[in-house]
Amino acid sequence: MPGLFKPSRLRSRAGRALPDNLPMHIAVIMDGNGRWAKLRGLPRSAGHKAGAENFRRIAAFCKDIGIKYLTAYVFSTENWKRPQDEIDKIFSLLCDYLDESLATMEQDKVRMQFFGDIAALPQPCRQRIERVREQSARFTDATVNLCVNYGARAEIARAAERLRGGSEPITEEAFSAELYTAGIPDPQLCIRPSGVMRMSNFLLWQTAYSELYFTPTLWPDFSKNELLAILRDYSKRPRRYGGI
Ligand code: FPP
Repeated sequence: MPGLFKPSRLRSRAGRALPDNLPMHIAVIMDGNGRWAKLRGLPRSAGHKAGAENFRRIAAFCKDIGIKYLTAYVFSTENWKRPQDEIDKIFSLLCDYLDESLATMEQDKVRMQFFGDIAALPQPCRQRIERVREQSARFTDATVNLCVNYGARAEIARAAERLRGGSEPITEEAFSAELYTAGIPDPQLCIRPSGVMRMSNFLLWQTAYSELYFTPTLWPDFSKNELLAILRDYSKRPRRYGGI
């Protein structure tokens, strides 16, 4: 219950296990929902439901420990190839998630942004996305970015199109400013659960220097403790950005 949420108590509990150099921005590919459901003899939709619930837990935890930005892959430009009933279920879960976010926004105080071609989504999703985006824009402590109908190649092509015909030289900075992530630091850490080790058209420009972390855990089972272990691993990785 939002009223019972005690960020300070949670923070001090997690704080004992927290490394000093936390990433400012974590990106996550929520993979393994279907396999999670299959292992339990459940329909794939049950896996997506459990995945959405887990995202809420992990997002609250990230805010609590001081992660400024969390970006999650909800629906890719390629996911339209899935059976229509699965697509409908994912959008229905997204609508529920957005309704809940609207209801708890004053307690959560999280800005929510949406990356991808939102105009192509079903109307109920679009309306809720607009409302959540507008009403959460005033929050500054933490930002959750949901990638919906998102593909990194489409994002890069869109940025190139927006720059086409301009008189200024196309620098990396100018290009970054045309991406959905404009103004947001690149993710220092990108996590993909479920044992799959590829980027699948996710934040290809922004993850040029991200630390990648792959775990066999299926997304609905991905826990706060595992995230803490990953953060400890991340804190020990030397990051040289091409230097020595
Ligand atoms: C990949 O797992 C997951 C997706 C394509 C959908 C992710 C969507 C959700 C978690 C629900 C909506 C989320 C929110 C935050 C409202 P998969 O289905 O490809 O898993 P599999 O590889 O095991 O089949």
